[in-house]
Amino acid sequence: MKKILLSGLLLFLAMTGLAIAGPPETLTAAYQQFNALFTGEWQQYGQLFTGLQKDLFPRLFLLVITIVPVFFFLHYVAIGPMSFPHDGKQVYCYTLFVRIIHWLAAVSFSLLVLTGLLVIFAKLLGGGSLGIWARIVHLVTAVIFSASVIPMFLFWVREMLPAVHDLKWMLIMGGYLSKEQKAVPAGKFNAGQKMWFWLATIGGAVMAVTGYFLYSHQGNIDTLRLSAIIHNVLGAAMVALFLVHLYMSLAAIKGSLRSMISGYKAEAELKILHPRFKY
Ligand code: HEM
Repeated sequence: MKKILLSGLLLFLAMTGLAIAGPPETLTAAYQQFNALFTGEWQQYGQLFTGLQKDLFPRLFLLVITIVPVFFFLHYVAIGPMSFPHDGKQVYCYTLFVRIIHWLAAVSFSLLVLTGLLVIFAKLLGGGSLGIWARIVHLVTAVIFSASVIPMFLFWVREMLPAVHDLKWMLIMGGYLSKEQKAVPAGKFNAGQKMWFWLATIGGAVMAVTGYFLYSHQGNIDTLRLSAIIHNVLGAAMVALFLVHLYMSLAAIKGSLRSMISGYKAEAELKILHPRFKY
């Protein structure tokens, strides 16, 4: 630590001197030396990076797409889906515009997940044109997803801000570990939905930027490696929460899908799952 501080101070003085009088090449070299104190010699991590790309990341994705569904299967068998009467009062929750944007994001993101996995496992699946087609579709759907996530961010951001009761919701896991139907602390969106929202929108933006670097090969080797690491790790987290979102909307809460088609949710469901929602 002392060494770093001392070197930093010396370098700062040297750089100040050079900035006043010295040639720019010396300044660049001095800056690189200073930077190396913190980052080390990044080039030497080439082998480590190749290992991550070839072995660790495919395993990580394989783990996500097997473990998460197994967990949900067990939940479905042990606890079962929540069901609410849908013949009572209905509350209008999602406008037509919100639904159209949601489905644009849903279809493009589903294709992104599918083609992303195909790119990762292309070799295993026989290689050839499959990987190339997957890359092309991945690029096109990334543009559509990026475009749909911007309005989605804007129309939901206020309702998705964290609240104190979200902590309580997380402590009881939203009540999903119990068969009993008891009101949980949540407004229009619960803590789980909020997490998904932030990961899908802000995470989606980071995926778009890192994906751009990977496609365009813009930037130096360090930028490309860092982009690949972020794209893979964040991608795995997004796929995991995407599977959660699918399970919740297709299986865990009966009739949930209908709300994203018609815009209406049953008041009986809101009273239990979103009691703080003022409509
Ligand atoms: C095929 C895939 C998808 C299906 C079947 C689906 C289904 C649904 C349903 C049924 C709802 C309403 C939940 C409720 O209010 O009870 C919903 C809400 C939502 N969806 Fe999706 N969705 C999909 C993909 C996506 C994607 C890719 C995104 C991200 C961009 C997304 C973001 C959201 C958000 C932020 C909400 C509001 C909060 C929530 O309910 O989680 N959905 N979705």
